[in-house]
Amino acid sequence: MPKRHLVTSALPYANGPIHIGHLVGCLLPADLYSRYLRMQDEEVLFVCGTDEHGVPITLKAKKEGKTPQQVVDENHKIIKDALVNFGISFDHFSRTTNSEHHKTASDFFEVLYKKGVFIEVRNEQLFDPKAKQFLADRYISGECPNCGYDKAYGDQCENCGKTLSPQELINPKSALTGEEPILKETLNWYLPLDRIQEEFLNDFIESKKGKWRSTVYGQCKSWLNEGLRPRAMTRDLDWGVKVPIESAEGKVMYVWFDAPIGYITATKEARPNDWERWWKDNDTELTHFLGKDNIVFHCIIFPAMLHEHGEFILPTQVPANEFLNLEGEKISTSRDHAIWLHDYIDEFPDKLDELRYTLTSIMPETKDADFTWNDFQARVNNELVAILGNFVNRVMVLSHKFHKGVIQSADLDADLQSKLNSILTKIDSSVRKNSQREANEFFMEIARLGNKYLQDQAPWHLAKEGDNEAEIAVCMRSCQELLFSLGKYSQVFLPKTADKILKLLNINDYRTSLMDGHRLGEASLLFERIDDDVIERQRDKLKNKNQPKTPFKPMINYEDFSKLDLRSGIIKAASKVEKADKLLKITVDIGSEERTVVSGIAEHFQADDIIGKQVCLLVNLEPRKLRGIESEGMILMAEDAEGQLKFVSPEEGTSAGSVIS
Ligand code: MF3
Ligand code: ZN
Repeated sequence: MPKRHLVTSALPYANGPIHIGHLVGCLLPADLYSRYLRMQDEEVLFVCGTDEHGVPITLKAKKEGKTPQQVVDENHKIIKDALVNFGISFDHFSRTTNSEHHKTASDFFEVLYKKGVFIEVRNEQLFDPKAKQFLADRYISGECPNCGYDKAYGDQCENCGKTLSPQELINPKSALTGEEPILKETLNWYLPLDRIQEEFLNDFIESKKGKWRSTVYGQCKSWLNEGLRPRAMTRDLDWGVKVPIESAEGKVMYVWFDAPIGYITATKEARPNDWERWWKDNDTELTHFLGKDNIVFHCIIFPAMLHEHGEFILPTQVPANEFLNLEGEKISTSRDHAIWLHDYIDEFPDKLDELRYTLTSIMPETKDADFTWNDFQARVNNELVAILGNFVNRVMVLSHKFHKGVIQSADLDADLQSKLNSILTKIDSSVRKNSQREANEFFMEIARLGNKYLQDQAPWHLAKEGDNEAEIAVCMRSCQELLFSLGKYSQVFLPKTADKILKLLNINDYRTSLMDGHRLGEASLLFERIDDDVIERQRDKLKNKNQPKTPFKPMINYEDFSKLDLRSGIIKAASKVEKADKLLKITVDIGSEERTVVSGIAEHFQADDIIGKQVCLLVNLEPRKLRGIESEGMILMAEDAEGQLKFVSPEEGTSAGSVIS
C-alpha cells in the first residue's frame, strides 16, 4: 500500500465565487480523503488553487469594466477565504496567474514542443475585424440552430445544452463588438490525440477497467470508441500563459492545457525542495477529485500530456462525482439559483459542520443528488442533534453525575469494543474506495451504537438498584472511549465538532488516549435544532431570487379591474399563420360562441399540442387585425424568468364560458 498520496481537487474557475455544487463535487470529497489518510499517518499532499485563464474571465472583465487580473484577484480571495473558513484542509492553494505557474506551464509546453509532439495546423478561424482579434468559440454568439435561443454561444447553447461549433450559429456575432465575424487564416499547435490514443490512451483506459468508477471508465470508453481527434492547445488570445515559441507571438495556451499543470505548480510551491518525489516517483498515488464535466480533461487530455512529457506519474484514481441539484432544479449561477459558500458562512457562521454533514450524506457519487433545505433541517435535527449530539451529551452528563467527570479505572466492554472496531474497519475501506457518503454513514453508526449501548445498560437504573459501582464504571468507561473515537473521526467528517469534543474531553489532541484519573471538561451541546422559520427564510430567498425582478405596475382600483371581462375557454383549433414565425391562429370555445385569437406564441408551442387546452381569455379587448386576421381577445400566459411561456389554465373541469373575476 503506498504511503504517499498526492490529492488534487479540480481548480475552481475564478470567474465568480463558489457554491455548494463545487464543494460537494470535488472539494469536500478530496478533503475527507486527505483528512482520513493524514489521521492514519500516511503522507498526504492536498493541492488546489484557482483556474484563472480562459475566455469567460476576459468577457466578465469587459462587462464589468475591469482588467482580467482584477477579476481573478477578487474571486481568488473570495474563493480561498470561503474554502479555508469551511475547513477544506489544503496543504497549498495556488493560482494559475502566479509566475511560478507560468514558468511551469511554459517549460511543460516547451518539452512537448521540442519532442515534436504537437502538430502545427494552419486553418481559417473566426476573426473580429473591428476588434482585430481572433474569436474563441465563447466569444461568438448567435441563434441556436437547435432551439432558436438567440444568445447561444459558439461552443454551447445554454438554453438547450447542445454542443455547437461557431459555424453552426445563425447570424453569428462577435461578443466583443457585435460585428459579424470573418474567416482569417491562423496557425495553432494541436495535440495529436488520435496518435496518442493508439499509442497510449487505449491501453491506459483499458487498464482502469474495474478500478475506476464505472461512470468514469464508461465515459472514457465511449470517447475512445468514437475516436479522438487532434485538439488545439493554443489560442489567439492575450489572456493566458504565453506560448513559448517565437512564431507564436500573440498566442496563449488553451486554458485546459495550463490549468491541470496547476497541480504541479501547486506542488512545487508547497514543497520546493522535494516536489519531484510527489510527481516522479511511482510510490506516489495520484488522485484527482472532480465533477463529471471534467472527466475528459483529467482522464484523457492531461494523461496524454503527462505521457508525452514522459517524466511524470499518471493518475491512479479519478473519482468524478455526478451533479448536485438544488430544490429539484439545476444549480444555475446565471439565474442565481445556488447556495453560495460565502453567503452560507455569513448566515450560519457556527453551522459549518452541519452543511458539511448534509452534503456528505447526499454526495452524488453514483448518481445526481438534490439538496433541499428541508432535508438539511431533517439531517441536523434528526441525526446530528438527536443521535450524535444526544449521545455525546448523555456521556458527559452521566460522567459528571456518577464520577464528577473523572475517568475511572475500569475494563472496556469487550463486545462494544469489537463492534466499534468493525465499524472503523468499514470506514477505512469506504474512504479508500472513495465512497465517502457510505463512510459518513458508518461514522454515524458509532453514535448509534453508543446510544443503544447506553439504553441497554441503563446505568441510571443500575445506580438506583445500588451496589453496581463496578458495572457503572465499565459502562461509563466504555462510553467515554466511544466518545473519544467519535471525536477522533470527527476530524475527518466534522472538523469543528472534533475541536468541540476535544474541549469536552479536556485533551489537546487525538494522538493521546484517555487516562484513568483524567478529568473531563464541562458538558455543553454540540448542535442545536434548526427551527422551521430559519428554513422557510432560506427557501423564500431562493424563490425570490428566481423571480424576475420585473417592477410592479402602478395601483389600480376595483373599478379598473372589473372592466376586464375574463372567461374560461377551450382551444378548439390552432394553426400557424403563414409567413409569420411567431403567430398562431387559435379558435377558442367560450361556451356561448367561438372566438378567433392571433397569439405570438408559435415559437413556444406546436399548434397541434395545444388543442384541447383550457385557457383564460380576455374577451372584451378591442379587436385588432394581425396579418389580415381579426383577433378577438387575448389568451392569458405566464412568463418565467427565462422567458418560458405557460398557459394560465383554470382548474380541470371548469366549463367553457365560466366568468373569471
Ligand atoms: N476550472 C475548471 C472547472 O471549474 C476545472 C479545472 S481543473 C484543472 O471546471 F485540472 F484543469 F485544473
Ligand atoms: Zn439551443
